[in-house]
Amino acid sequence: MKLLNLFDKHLSKGAMVIATAAVSIFLLTACSASKEPALQDASTEEDAEGQQAGSGDTAAGKQLVVGFSQLGAESDWRSAHSQSIRSELIPENGFQLLFEDGQQKQANQIMAIRTFIQREVDVIALAPVTESGWDSVLSEAKEAGIPVILVDRRVDASDEDLFECWIGSDFELEGKKATEWLHQYTASIEYPQDQLHVVNIQGTIGSSAQIGRSKGLRQACDKYGWDLMQEVSGEFTQTKGREVMASLLRLYPNLNVVYCENDNEALGAIEAIEAAGKEPGLDLAGGQILILSFDGMNPEALQYAKEGKIACIAECNPQHGKRLADVIRQIKEGKQPEKYSYVEEEIFSGCDTIKTLTVDDTEYPVTLLK
Ligand code: AHR
Repeated sequence: MKLLNLFDKHLSKGAMVIATAAVSIFLLTACSASKEPALQDASTEEDAEGQQAGSGDTAAGKQLVVGFSQLGAESDWRSAHSQSIRSELIPENGFQLLFEDGQQKQANQIMAIRTFIQREVDVIALAPVTESGWDSVLSEAKEAGIPVILVDRRVDASDEDLFECWIGSDFELEGKKATEWLHQYTASIEYPQDQLHVVNIQGTIGSSAQIGRSKGLRQACDKYGWDLMQEVSGEFTQTKGREVMASLLRLYPNLNVVYCENDNEALGAIEAIEAAGKEPGLDLAGGQILILSFDGMNPEALQYAKEGKIACIAECNPQHGKRLADVIRQIKEGKQPEKYSYVEEEIFSGCDTIKTLTVDDTEYPVTLLK
């Protein structure tokens, strides 16, 4: 539009017609030409993960080219999530996947999305590291006519039309389940609620998983009168979880509940607790430190939950690959997928005292780990 306005000012009417036609032919040629090289690039270049990116065309027909911006590889959950998507969006299922790891940096994810737009992919899938700051790049995808599907975490977009739909977990509900388990368990052993001294090892600050789970905890602290001593990020990693736990133990010798916003942090926290000569476990009266956690797919964390070193794990389900593939197919068939699809999740514990939990008037069974 700016180009044509310039012509308006400086050219006569006749010259304007010729110039406009020439510009139109040029733009049309450029647009149709740009599609081919982008797809050809994809067939010859290796993407950041070393995959061969294909043209999207096969003997069986056109594959859907999906650009996926994964936020990083910080946890076992994240590896399982990437694996679920990689194993479903495969040529045999009609997909060509361009996978980009954002390494926990929003700037990298924005760059990846811009590259996907340039390559004219059919669909963009995004697992955003944090919720804010996506409006501009999502508007660019929308202008390019490329649907964006959010998987796992959410964005706080000013306009919900900037993305097609979202698939993921109800993180606040997960937090409510874990804290309700703590309430019911401590009530069952008659441990005074005001004697629960809680520290929160949070996930990546500003991520949906952190926001929802921290909210669930704060609500429970208010409701039951628990002492929330400190909240500090462990960045969803084992190393940071260990580091943070070691300093929390020095600062708060009387802490007796650790709310870890994922299992990797819990594994690190357990290392720090044991290194400090204390014990993780369910025996609060005997001086053990009770640990709550999230995810439930790391074998070591599940083993610890069986043994009581982790009291309860609220599941976070990483299996989004099949769901993502289904939603992409729906969009391509012109159907409107559900705007928000929640995955179903369990509650795991090795302690059989609490068999069900009621959260927001819904009863959830607790899966006993044996
Ligand atoms: O967004 C999901 C969370 O992110 C998982 O709980 C955690 O392990 C991951 O890193």
